[in-house]
Amino acid sequence: MDLNLTIQIKNLTFRNPVTVASGTFGTSGEYAGFLDYEKLGAIIAKTITLRPRQGNSMPRICETSGGMLNAIGLQNKGLEDFIQKKIPYFAKINTPLIANIAGEKTGEFRELARALDQRKDVVKAIELNLSCPNIEEGGASFMRKRELIIEVMKAVRGETDLPVIAKLSPELGDVVAIAGEVIQAGADALSLINTLKGMAIDIERRKPRLANITGGLSGPAIKPVALRYVYEVKKAYKVPVIASGGIMTASDALEFLIAGADLVAVGTANFVNPRATIDILDGIVDYCRKNKIKHIDELRGSLKVERNEK
Ligand SMILES: Cc1cc2nc3c(=O)[nH]c(=O)nc-3n(C[C@H](O)[C@H](O)[C@H](O)COP(=O)(O)O)c2cc1C
Repeated sequence: MDLNLTIQIKNLTFRNPVTVASGTFGTSGEYAGFLDYEKLGAIIAKTITLRPRQGNSMPRICETSGGMLNAIGLQNKGLEDFIQKKIPYFAKINTPLIANIAGEKTGEFRELARALDQRKDVVKAIELNLSCPNIEEGGASFMRKRELIIEVMKAVRGETDLPVIAKLSPELGDVVAIAGEVIQAGADALSLINTLKGMAIDIERRKPRLANITGGLSGPAIKPVALRYVYEVKKAYKVPVIASGGIMTASDALEFLIAGADLVAVGTANFVNPRATIDILDGIVDYCRKNKIKHIDELRGSLKVERNEK
């Protein structure tokens, strides 16, 4: 039986809905020994900033029940390194590359978008990290202001006709309302959700387990929250959504697809099983075959809701 898993965002076609969540899949070839990148629907790169960033002090990740906390602090080698080293690596791979950018000022987002727009030969879309919870100076506190999110969205829109994906977190406030505003400001798609801010304490040392004290919670613990937002945003707007939040197995991914997600981004699961994306893709294919689904559109958003309202 022929099975068509292709997904479209603007003029961009993905061979299947499985991708990776930014920051959880290395920066270029780290996972190449475990899987064939050309089996994935897309690759979302780790966030880059205009200039290199060292990130936060260690320890900056720890396990929690049902998930993990991270406070990496957007460590990255900056735009120039991305253009000189990462883009040539991905140029050889026949899978759409989605760059992910963050800045401390609107002008930084604008410069990043302008530079990436020049590399349309490899960069096929831009994801805006509007929601990293781990940067106290600039970054998160800057981005938490709603009007600035809209300003950034409009500034990036003015620089590129590449598909622009706005990545949001419940840390920003009412995700459904903000989603509406970023769509109005020109977003072509949304990425839901980034991590939720949390903390963990070592009771023997009576110290925070992260040097940064707090960090972003990811993994199975946040899946129900992510699922709820994907469902509510898809119900409210006609906009493609990339879902992330605790997608560990094919059945997690299927929940998001049934709720309406267009792509599913695998994050924390990559640290547990470096082949998680492939296992998830295989599981989606099995499910479609078992349920005689021929096109992913028959599955996407197929949630049956029966409500007895009083
Ligand atoms: C270690 C780690 C690093 C991350 N780095 C980034 C990042 O650089 N940019 C970004 O937009 N999201 C980043 N995220 C958030 C993920 O892309 C994803 O949205 C989030 O973890 C929820 O998905 P998950 O529960 O499957 O991990 C990071 C998450 C983790 C765990």
